Amino acid sequence: MRPMLTTPAYGGDWSPEQWDSATIDADITLMKEAGVNLVSLGIFSWAFLEPSEGSYDFDWLEDIITRLHAAGIATDLATGTASPPAWMAATYPHSLPVDARGVRLGFGSRQQYCPSSAVFRGAAQRLTRAIAQRFADHPGVVMWHVSNEYGCHVSECFCHECVEAFRTWLRDTYASIDALNAAWGTAFWSQRYTAFDQVGAPGAMPTFHNPAHALDWRRFSNDNLLSLMIAERDIIRQYSSAPVTTNFMGDFPRLDYQKWAGEVDIISDDSYPDPADPAAAHSVAWAGDIMRGLANGSSWLLMEQSPSAVQWRQRNSPKRPGQYLLWTLGRMAHGADGILQFQWRQSLRGSETFHAAMVPHSGKDSRTWGEVVRTGEVLSRLAPVMDAPYRADVAVVMDWQSMWAFNAAIGPVEGTHFERPRAWHRSLWEAGIAVDVVGDHADLSAYRVIIVAEHFIDSPDLTRRLQAAVEAGAQVLIEGPTAVVDRNLGAVPDGYLGSARQLLGVRVIEHAALTGAVESFSAASNGRGDAVNRLSRAVGTPAACEWIGVEAHADALRRATDRLGTPAPDLRAGQWAEEIAPAAHSWHDSGVEVVATFDGRGGGADLANMAAITRRSYAGGGNAWYVACDLDALSRRALLDVVGAYGRVRPVVDGLPDGVEAQRRGNFLFLLNHSDRAVELTGIVGRDLVDGAQCHGHVMLAPRCGMVVDQR
Ligand code: GLA
Repeated sequence: MRPMLTTPAYGGDWSPEQWDSATIDADITLMKEAGVNLVSLGIFSWAFLEPSEGSYDFDWLEDIITRLHAAGIATDLATGTASPPAWMAATYPHSLPVDARGVRLGFGSRQQYCPSSAVFRGAAQRLTRAIAQRFADHPGVVMWHVSNEYGCHVSECFCHECVEAFRTWLRDTYASIDALNAAWGTAFWSQRYTAFDQVGAPGAMPTFHNPAHALDWRRFSNDNLLSLMIAERDIIRQYSSAPVTTNFMGDFPRLDYQKWAGEVDIISDDSYPDPADPAAAHSVAWAGDIMRGLANGSSWLLMEQSPSAVQWRQRNSPKRPGQYLLWTLGRMAHGADGILQFQWRQSLRGSETFHAAMVPHSGKDSRTWGEVVRTGEVLSRLAPVMDAPYRADVAVVMDWQSMWAFNAAIGPVEGTHFERPRAWHRSLWEAGIAVDVVGDHADLSAYRVIIVAEHFIDSPDLTRRLQAAVEAGAQVLIEGPTAVVDRNLGAVPDGYLGSARQLLGVRVIEHAALTGAVESFSAASNGRGDAVNRLSRAVGTPAACEWIGVEAHADALRRATDRLGTPAPDLRAGQWAEEIAPAAHSWHDSGVEVVATFDGRGGGADLANMAAITRRSYAGGGNAWYVACDLDALSRRALLDVVGAYGRVRPVVDGLPDGVEAQRRGNFLFLLNHSDRAVELTGIVGRDLVDGAQCHGHVMLAPRCGMVVDQR
C-alpha cells in the first residue's frame, strides 16, 4: 500500500519547531521548488504538542499542515510519541528505561521511555488520541506515522515493570511453570523455578545466561514494543481511514519485522548505506528486497535516507556526485514507490547538526540542493512505475527468530547478524539475478531456486514447504548451521538438520568451526619459543587456519569453477564446516550425490574427503542441495551458476559491464551504473523516464547515473 499520491512520494522529516516563521515560509516555497509532495511532521514534537502534562497545543501544527496543504504538499502525521518531554522524566522518573546493568537512563537524548511504563503508555495513547481526533479529517493528512524507529536506541528495558510484563508474557506463553522449566532446560545448573514470580530479566549475570531465557526475553521485548505500536494504530483507526505506518530499519536485529509487517498498512524503511563502502549499493538492494518481502511483494516507502552524509558514524563521508539520485532509483528498482529523507532542513543546533539535509547549511548554492531538485524532477516522471510488480525466480529465506536463537545460544560459534542470508543475497545481486527476500512463512511455490542459510531453528513447517517445492521441480539450497535447535534452543538429537534430514538425505554429525589464529606460547614469543618447545611445536592445529579447502567433484561444478578461473583450491570455505553423513546407510541409499568434498587443505585437515556439498535429486528436476560450510564469494558464485542452471534462472539482463545493476519492475527496466566510468549498453529499447530520451538500442550511461526504461 502507499499514500494516495499521484506521483512517487518525495520529501522528508521536517521539524519546523526549530525554525522561525520566515524560515518556515521560505521552506514551503523551497519544497515546491524541489518537487516535494509529502512531509513527515511531528515525529519529535511531543514537548511542543503537550508542553505540560495534559495540556495540548496543536494550533501551530494545524497551521503548518494547512499551509503545506495549501501549497499542494501532503502530510505524513506522526503520533509524536517517539520521545517523551522533560516533564515526564522529571515527574515520573520510573518512566525512564533501565539497562541490563540496572542503570536508569537519563533525559536529554531521545527515546527515553520504558516500553512497559504505565505512565508512558497512558500519556502516549492520550496524545495519539488527541492528535487523531484533531487531524483525522484534515485534508492535508494522507498517512500516519506511529512513533519512530521502535527500538533503535532502547529495544529492551530491565525495570521492575518490564519484569512484571515479562512474567505475564511467560504465563501466557507457557501456562504452567513446569512447561517453562521443560522448555528452558532449567534442570541444568539448578535453574529450576517453582513460580513465575521467581523469573527475572536476563540482565547482568555471573556467567552464561540460560539461552532459552534470553531468547524468550528477546521475543517478549519485541512483542512489548509491538504492542505500543498496535495500541496507537488502533486509536488512529477509530478516527481515520488513512494508512498507518511505522518506520523499519532494514534488517534491524532487535525486532522481528515479520511479526510487525502485518500490523501496518504501509511498509516503510529507513536506510543509510555508507557511501564509503564499495558494496553500499548492495545494502540498498538488500534492504529494498527485505522491505518488498515484508510487503508481500507489493511496493513500500523509503521513509528516510540521507541526501548526503550522516553524522553518526565515526567518519561520515558525503554521497558522491550523482549517488543520491542513483540510490533513489535503486530503492525504486527494488520496489519503493516513494522516497523521503531525513531531514528537510539541516539543523543549526542539537545532536544532528552535521547530518546532511535536503536544504544544507550552505543553502541553495550547493551540490546537495541541485541534486535534491533534480531527484524531485526525476521522481515526478516515475508515476507509471508505481505499483509495477517486481518478479524474482529466486528466494532467500530470512528468519529473525533463527537469528535470535543463533545469537542467544552459547556456541557452537558466535551468532551473526544475518551474515549468511545476506552473503547469498549479495552473490545473487552481484550475478545480476533478481531475488526476493522472504520470511519463514512465505509462499515458496513460485520460486525456482530457494536458499535457506543459517536457519538455526528447525522448522518442520518450512521443511514441508521446501519439500513440496523440490518435488514440484525447484532447487532448494540449504546451508548450515541450519535446523540445529528447536524453537526453545533445545538441540536437535540424532544428527542436526532435524526435519530437513529426509529432504536432503543428510544428517550433521558434528560442527567443526575454525577458531582463526590462536594465541600460543610460540606466537606470544614471536616464534623464538619454537626452538625449544619440543612438544608443542610438533602439534598440528588446523582449527587455527583462516580457510578450508573444498574440492568440486560434480562435473558441472568443476566446469563452473574453471569458467570463473578460480585459483586453487577451486572452492573454499571460511570458518565454518560440518562433518555430515548420509541420512540412510550410504550416500547412494540416501539418493544423494556428493558434489564436493573437503580436500584436507587449510582448516579442513580432519575432514579430508568428507562431503562438503551434496545434492539429492528428485523426479521432475528438483534438487535439494546441502552446503556443509560457509563458502566464500567465489565458491558461492560457482555453486550458484550450477544451481541456477538447474533452476533455469537468468540474470535480469545478460552481459552487462562491470558496475551496472539491472532490475525490472513490470515493463520498466532499471539500469544503474554504480561505477566511476561511463558505460556503453546495447540492446536497450524504450523511453528513458529519467531523461525522457528514446533509446534505440545503444546507450551511454554516465558514472553513477541510472535510467528507467519504459518498455511498455
Ligand atoms: C534515524 C531517525 C532520524 C534521524 C536519522 C539520522 O533514522 O529516525 O530521526 O536521527 O536516523 O540518520
